[in-house]
Amino acid sequence: MKMPKDFLFGAASASYQVEGAWNEDGKGLSNWDVFSKIPGKTFEDTNGDVAVDHYHRYKEDIALMAEMGLESYRFSISWPRVFPNGTGEVNEKGLEFYNNLIDECLKHNIVPFVTLYHWDLPQALEEKGGWKNKETVDAFVRFADTCFQSFGDRVRHWITFNEAVIFCSLGYLTGAHPPGIEGDVKGYFQTTHHVNIAHARSVELFKQNGYEGEIGITHVFNPAFSIDDAEENKFAEMHANAYATHWFYDPVLKGTYPEYVVKGLDEQGLLPEMTDEELDLLKRTASMNDFIGLNYYSPQRVMKNDSALVMAGGRENSTGRPGNPSFDGVYKTVMMDDKVYTKWSWEISPEAFLDGMHMLKDRYGDVKIYITENGLGDVDPIVDGEILDDPRIEYIEGHIRAVKHAVEQGINVAGYYAWSAIDLLSWLNGYKKQYGFIYVDHANGLERKKKKSFYWYKDIIATRAENL
Ligand code: NOJ
Repeated sequence: MKMPKDFLFGAASASYQVEGAWNEDGKGLSNWDVFSKIPGKTFEDTNGDVAVDHYHRYKEDIALMAEMGLESYRFSISWPRVFPNGTGEVNEKGLEFYNNLIDECLKHNIVPFVTLYHWDLPQALEEKGGWKNKETVDAFVRFADTCFQSFGDRVRHWITFNEAVIFCSLGYLTGAHPPGIEGDVKGYFQTTHHVNIAHARSVELFKQNGYEGEIGITHVFNPAFSIDDAEENKFAEMHANAYATHWFYDPVLKGTYPEYVVKGLDEQGLLPEMTDEELDLLKRTASMNDFIGLNYYSPQRVMKNDSALVMAGGRENSTGRPGNPSFDGVYKTVMMDDKVYTKWSWEISPEAFLDGMHMLKDRYGDVKIYITENGLGDVDPIVDGEILDDPRIEYIEGHIRAVKHAVEQGINVAGYYAWSAIDLLSWLNGYKKQYGFIYVDHANGLERKKKKSFYWYKDIIATRAENL
């Protein structure tokens, strides 16, 4: 089977991880510009000041993507580039950069898929309480509106937020991301609610103003599976999926928070403050979402746990996919002898990916799905100047095959975006952890080189994955 004609094969990036030009052309400071400069916060104290200089080299990068046959490029807009103070005056130069980037994509027949928020919050808003402060919600809606007005004539695919669980939990539970707060469980849940309100208001505005195209949200998707059939571990599985998946997708797709979590939080005095108006907003906007995005890298294997506070998965630079906040210690994620893991201990399982998509279909029906991220973080071998990233090829091949099966089995998947188009800055792992089809030589003036996977993905796209 060939993948359908309108299925989009793409690759993704995020502004802070690729752009650089952190203080050029009127850009304001982001929370990451500040946080990454606090000693010890990132691997070898790397930061995004230059990143891979996409800001200046986007033409070269888009040309390479076009050569690969990429049908769509998912990138994010740096909010402080557009609003240096988060709100107030617009920076025209910031808009100009994204206008150019979008036009360059279109020139090469590459569909721009825009993420509005991929974690680089204007520092001015962070200093006023960031996502805990409802004023950030108002400022975000204004930012979204400005982007719709400026780019909506050419952009037809919008993601409001990328992975709320990560920036909220690493921001407020583990402190690994800005604002670097640890153990603020109530704050964590409150920020996730504010993000949902900002999303819902933006979706409503987009629909009311009649923009063409589609809008949705992207979440981490790491479905939980019990390590065995023991009742207590099955309970852990249910609990993990409720807190890590349903808490995020339910308000968007069902317009309500999952009862099990609401009850649990209420009993512990942790339920976010929510007004009736906000709850109404979630209800009436649920049907307006055109799709959901899944960032899938690995599943979680869970079992009962007895200790107090656990961040299942740990920090990004220790083991496992971060951001499964089992703040109450009901479950823990474990590694299993019969599973395969990456160098960063993330389990590799295309089977769990497919099972997980079925779990979503069971709960949410035929909602349109984009795989907005999937890929392998690795240290790629270089042999005689060639980047031989066979493990990446094997990883992506397995996962595209799972998507193919999903489509064959009636799941509405409309596109697949590999993370990432080009090697970029990992938030906490510097440049050591590579994901791209295009290599960036940091010792050689950031020169771009095509990896083995570049040619492989080109062939997959050209044949619409027929031979997988
Ligand atoms: C999740 C994030 O969206 C992205 O920014 C990150 O680099 C990758 N996945 C890998 O961790």
